Amino acid sequence: MTTMSNRANFGSRIGIVLATAGSAVGLGNVWRFPTMTGENGGAAFILIYIFCVVALGIPCMLSEFIIGRRAQTNAARAFSLLAGGTPWRFIGYFGVFTGFLIASYYSVVSGWCLQYVTASVSGQLDGDPEAVTQFFTDFSTNPWKPVLCLVIFFLISHFVVVRGVQKGIERASKLMMPLLFILLLIIAVASCLLPRASEGIRFLFSPDFSKVDSNVLLGALGQAFYSLSLGMGCLCTYASYFSRDTHLVKSATQIVSIDTLIAILAGLMIFPAVFSVGGNVGAGPSLVFITLPNVFNEAFSSVPLVGHLMALLFYLLLSVAALTSLISLHEVCTAFIHEEFHLSRARAATVVTVLCSIIGVFCSLSFYNADLSLFGMSLFDLFDFTTGQIFLPLGGFLTCLFVGWYVPRHIVVAELTNDGTLRGRFIGLFLFCVRYVCPVGILLVFLNQMGLV
Ligand code: PHE
Repeated sequence: MTTMSNRANFGSRIGIVLATAGSAVGLGNVWRFPTMTGENGGAAFILIYIFCVVALGIPCMLSEFIIGRRAQTNAARAFSLLAGGTPWRFIGYFGVFTGFLIASYYSVVSGWCLQYVTASVSGQLDGDPEAVTQFFTDFSTNPWKPVLCLVIFFLISHFVVVRGVQKGIERASKLMMPLLFILLLIIAVASCLLPRASEGIRFLFSPDFSKVDSNVLLGALGQAFYSLSLGMGCLCTYASYFSRDTHLVKSATQIVSIDTLIAILAGLMIFPAVFSVGGNVGAGPSLVFITLPNVFNEAFSSVPLVGHLMALLFYLLLSVAALTSLISLHEVCTAFIHEEFHLSRARAATVVTVLCSIIGVFCSLSFYNADLSLFGMSLFDLFDFTTGQIFLPLGGFLTCLFVGWYVPRHIVVAELTNDGTLRGRFIGLFLFCVRYVCPVGILLVFLNQMGLV
């Protein structure tokens, strides 16, 4: 098998963990996870989520790591190299395509976060609840502002990606991940010190199993998938920059732990504040852009400017989280174009930025322009639905089957043991998971999301 020599690598172990965790930690942790926890029984959902992350997330992540590090190339070619001429090779192309679509609509919400940063500085989020709702409606249906924000967001990720793996992605992650963690801690502590915050903390940590049904179970599985950036070649691309002595199992465990810790901290940041003002925890997707600005205004109303500051820190946090994920999506597409079409990294990144921005603009405009809809959904909703609910589970399902049943065992063993230098204690368990547990689990999520079980 030919692999690409003299290819860029991450420079340090901490760089590997922070960059990959940066991909995983995103809007999924700070927005989707608390929303789902609120709607699905608090701590009971968290326990099930953790079980899914361990039983399904880690084996899936390891599968992508094995393929990426073995092939040392972009996701599409990595699958092709291991698959020979068999149809398995299409999984990689499918992943890159999914990356394009996710990057395009992810940038829309990322742009909103940026807009909310400026709005919290200029005091536009200070009004009463109606004013805040109106601000969101006006903004999301404004033809040019969200478009401008998403293009700015893309340009930032563009400049990081163009600088390369070590000087761009790794350096940015080493800066942004600690910043994200500090912001999260500040807001979580401030939120937990509010009157009646204990009710929110209790909600988060005392399980209510009466709400658990098959939907909750399968929702947790889907969330684990989305949150860990599984199923679209992102982790495979990043793993192609790992060095030969990177301990895959240890790295996967650390990345998954960081992702889960941040999701739970996000819960600790949101629920105590929401409970302290008697708000509605199951407020759905509007939680972040409508409910929370009001919560911050009300909860911190006794101390001047603190509500302001909390809103600013929160949207800054959200922007940083979204940016590290967008960088990874950008990188999947850039690496593909750079290596497959023999363009320089800068040119490849420009192609991605331009293409994704154009699609992103259509997604953004689809919020209020009924002409931009397909199959009865706005373009934005269509991309969100097809990628999150169909393409990612499908990509993960196929990746597990590929590694479990097709890739020769000696390759799996060589990658998991770093060519025999590590003890391969979990190889039997890993193979059992990728052959049976993950495919069956993912199939169930998939069927559930299609409304078939
Ligand atoms: N994991 C990211 C999040 O939690 C979303 C994402 C999915 C990023 C797939 C890259 C690839 O927001």
